[in-house]
Amino acid sequence: MSVYLTYYGHSALSIKFGETNVLIDPFLVDNPLADVDHNNLEADYILVSHGHEDHVGDTIAIAKRTGATVVANFEIANWFALQGLENVHPQHIGGGFLHSFGYVKMTQALHGSALPDGSYGGNPCGFLITTSDTTLYLACDTGLFGDMKLIGDEGVDAAVLPIGDNFTMGPKDALRAVQMISPTIAIPVHYNTWPLIEQDALTWKQAVESNTSTKVCILNSGDTVSI
Ligand code: NI
Ligand code: MN
Repeated sequence: MSVYLTYYGHSALSIKFGETNVLIDPFLVDNPLADVDHNNLEADYILVSHGHEDHVGDTIAIAKRTGATVVANFEIANWFALQGLENVHPQHIGGGFLHSFGYVKMTQALHGSALPDGSYGGNPCGFLITTSDTTLYLACDTGLFGDMKLIGDEGVDAAVLPIGDNFTMGPKDALRAVQMISPTIAIPVHYNTWPLIEQDALTWKQAVESNTSTKVCILNSGDTVSI
């Protein structure tokens, strides 16, 4: 099955698994880096990593328009149901489920998760997505943690890692994450959206590629890469 990943800036991604469109943290209208109208995006699933506004983003509008199934932790899935979404699939950290496009396991993340209206959003998560031929790790918003080594033990083809610092791992810890996960390729996200998280991705790429065998794929908003 072909897998194509498109980056919309910040942490917003669209991943096409065969014919299935999966959006990750679709923060688009208020995302200064996004150059896409969410009304034109197709979605069969939307995965939401935590409750912060820069990740919940336009999930409600997109899910209402498309009928996409929203996958999130139990607390956030319940909150989406209260906002009128009919197709929600709650999971929680450590738990996996075989969705139509692949097996999605929620992984831990060191971060917060309050929802935009202040509701309790449970614990933040990342996603490990396994298909018949690809394993993709989305760390989402997190600090470095040693159990990334356990995630790497699963054999990660592509890792999407925050490098912005301040709210998440910065470049140095993201390099240590690559060393623990050993993915074939690493894609930096969650940087250059605002001055607080400005980073030079090219410098990070050089650091990663001179210290590990991982290749770094820098995506500009709107770019698509085949995984
Ligand atoms: Ni966050
Ligand atoms: Mn964030």
